[in-house]
Order: sequence, then structure tokens, then C-alpha cells
Amino acid sequence: MFPMILACTSPPPDSGGSPVLDLPEHSECLPSAGDSYSDAICQAVVDEAGRQPTVSENKSGMPPDWTDPRLNDPEYRWLTSEVKRCACRCCHTGAFGGAGVYFWNLEHQPVWIDSASGWSLSVLGGWTDEDDQTLPTDDIDRLRALIEAEMDRRQGN
Ligand code: HEC
Repeated sequence: MFPMILACTSPPPDSGGSPVLDLPEHSECLPSAGDSYSDAICQAVVDEAGRQPTVSENKSGMPPDWTDPRLNDPEYRWLTSEVKRCACRCCHTGAFGGAGVYFWNLEHQPVWIDSASGWSLSVLGGWTDEDDQTLPTDDIDRLRALIEAEMDRRQGN
């Protein structure tokens, strides 16, 4: 019989330093409404992209309204939570200093969607060839209905 061998495991190597964040890909999303990548992760995503920060402006062509009914619209709230559970939030939130903010900014007041041009909204809704800038939602029809309503609103329909 072999003598009993006492396992002699060496301690795990000391990784040292701060933990390395696991950054999401450009179009990665978390599974559930209400989820979002942490601020630290978002900041790292923006830092890694390494581009100049930008600022947003109203591109809707409509005057801002602080009592805008869209602020309480369940569809608008749904869209916001769909965006926020994806890495999109990182580069499209002003506070992180991302370069995408000029194109649309979740912090644009009073209604963030007004910071997106009609073209950007058509990209977001997947009507163009810019697939990586289409929102990866499970309900593209719902997204498109919202964007179509927004385009009608901008045209005064
Ligand atoms: C790493 C940063 C980053 C992430 C993550 C990111 N974007 Fe962007 N986005 C940008 C930048 C920068 C621009 C400005 C255009 C450019 O330089 O590509 C932009 C522009 C856009 C536009 C406007 C396109 C146009 O031609 O008007 C859309 C729509 C868009 N992004 C959607 C998304 C969606 C949807 C996601 C998530 C699936 C996302 N982005 C994630 C940085 C990002």
C-alpha cells in the first residue's frame, strides 16, 4: 500500500493590485429590466475607448417641455430601461464623459430621446446597415413603434 499522501497545495499566487474589471463588449446587455453595469465598469469602458468627451444638444426640432407627457409614458420608460441594461449606457451617459454623448445622451434633459437626431433613431431602431448601433432588444417591434411615434411627433403629426 502506498503511504497516505498529504496534499500539499501551494497558496494561490498573489494577484496583487486592484481587481481587473471584466468589461462588456460594445453591444452586450444584462438579462433583466432594471439591471445595469456598475458605474465603475461604465467608466472603464469609456476610458478604454479613449476618445474625447462630447456634449449633447436638443436635436428633436421641438422646444423642451418640462411637463412632457413622454416622461410618464410606459413605452419611454421601457426604452430607457432597455438601454440602461446594455453597455450602450456607458458611452451614452454624459457623466462618464463618453464620446457617444453628442449622438444621444441618457442624461439629456428633460427627455433624453430628444438628443438623438432622426437619423440616429433610425440607426437605433435597426432600419440602417449600422447593425452594431441597433439596440439589442428582444422586442424590436415595440422599439420601432416608439420610434415611429417619436418621428410623427417631430413632424407635428
Ligand atoms: C465604447 C463606447 C460606445 C458604446 C459602448 C456604445 N456606443 Fe453608440 N456611439 C458611440 C460613439 C463614439 C458614437 C458616435 C459615432 C461614432 O463615432 O461611431 C456613437 C453613436 C451611436 C449612434 C448614432 C449613430 C448615427 O450615425 O447617428 C447610435 C444609434 C448608437 N451609438 C447606438 C448604440 C447602441 C444601441 C449601443 C449599445 C448596443 C451603443 N451605441 C454602445 C460610442 C459607443
